[in-house]
Amino acid sequence: MNKLNKFPKNFYMGVAMSANQSEGAFNINGKGVSTADVRFFKKDLDRHNVFEEFKMNRHNLEHILKNEKDFYFPKRTGIDFYHTYKEDIKLLSELNINIFRTSIAWTRIYPTGEEKTPNLEGLKFYKNLFEECKKNNLKIMVTISHLEMPLNIVTKYGGWANKETIKMYINFAKTVVTEFCDIVDFWLPFNEINHIDFDCTGVFADEKNHLSKSYQSFHNQFVANSKIIHFGKSLNENMKFGTMVGHMLSYPATCDPLDVYENLKESQINVDFFYEIMCNGKYPWYMSKFFADNKIILDISKKELEIISKNTVDFVSFSYYSSAIISAKEIEKTGGNVKERGKNPFLVANEWGWQIDPVGLKISIMELYSKYKLPIFVSENGFATTEELDESNSIEDDYRIDYLRKHLDAIKEACLEGADVFGYTLWTPIDLVSFTSQEMSKRYGVIYVDQNDLGEGSKKRYRKKSFYWLQNYVKNSQEV
Ligand code: BG6
Repeated sequence: MNKLNKFPKNFYMGVAMSANQSEGAFNINGKGVSTADVRFFKKDLDRHNVFEEFKMNRHNLEHILKNEKDFYFPKRTGIDFYHTYKEDIKLLSELNINIFRTSIAWTRIYPTGEEKTPNLEGLKFYKNLFEECKKNNLKIMVTISHLEMPLNIVTKYGGWANKETIKMYINFAKTVVTEFCDIVDFWLPFNEINHIDFDCTGVFADEKNHLSKSYQSFHNQFVANSKIIHFGKSLNENMKFGTMVGHMLSYPATCDPLDVYENLKESQINVDFFYEIMCNGKYPWYMSKFFADNKIILDISKKELEIISKNTVDFVSFSYYSSAIISAKEIEKTGGNVKERGKNPFLVANEWGWQIDPVGLKISIMELYSKYKLPIFVSENGFATTEELDESNSIEDDYRIDYLRKHLDAIKEACLEGADVFGYTLWTPIDLVSFTSQEMSKRYGVIYVDQNDLGEGSKKRYRKKSFYWLQNYVKNSQEV
């Protein structure tokens, strides 16, 4: 095997999930209602435009809460990981992996966000889960807030646009960081912090001053991010914190300078801005004009800017699924993570229109390493499709194997070029509920779960062909 077939020494190779998409048990042992618990499954949805289909406004939420019995809420059940975590972790450890990433459900610890003391049952669950990981020789990466928050914080306080939410998040984050600082190895304060969606900001789609509220939410999250880094380092200066940005790579649609310019602007605003603040501690120069052009008015204090500048991350992590093209003109669109994006004639897409681009992963790593010169961790990447078990209770998912092989090879190639990539976690090892479409049939796993979009099925786990492929690939890729 030549060097290209190995990851660097001490590379972390593992898998990633989130609490709200897997645990279920939404009202057990003191857990409160989270924003994820009011997301419902919709039949016959437009798979290329799911973001539009699930836009949440205040009126929708009131209707949903008044008529709960008319809806099915898949994240309330998840894949019942809350009860099956022991067997699931054991199964995952068969993959020869050495790291497991998940998140902590805020509402399991602080059901409404306002409590002064934590729910001990919630802490007990994560203690047991993390101990199980250690028993199976897995390092742990924790996302403190993964696209959900207590619903009460949204309805009573207006979500992240309100500075009170910083206090409630810090109360929650300090609790879990203190409790688990000795067992958790890496921390991500926010998942995909760059998404403007309701689940991420708690701002309703039809809110007056929507843009100002959304950017105020981002600012408040940046402050919270820096505050928790500061707190963690005061407990133990070796604690490691990273960014988690939804990496929306895009290319200019043509070499027309106008397309190149449009792509530059789009990348600055939707992606670079977030890394810049968390890695370099400063609002980048180009944001002032964007704020002025869009009449975005923000409440930012000198003290907050100081906190942000003094408490930056230790590593860069991001999710990468697909790429898109950007043009100054109207172009054909396809699906994408949280919004429709420009269709690239050189790429093929999955059933949701997400375009498959392993070279784009290599480009992303190399660009990010050039810009921020911090170690890189690819914290999400994977392939979704609809699947059914065959007669032998397996799935011949060669398409997933192809996707994974090409993306993992792209990481190795970036390492060969000299980029410092120290880990990868696959989204997701076990089929679970989709974040954007709430479908169970959008399957990412190398392990199949017998459960349909309405939660029917035995929930039994079955290894797909890609499970065995990954097991072997990981074993043969580690530098010893
Ligand atoms: C990211 C999220 O957006 O991508 C995950 O961090 C999510 O929570 C994943 O599941 C894939 O998105 P989806 O909508 O296909 O589940």
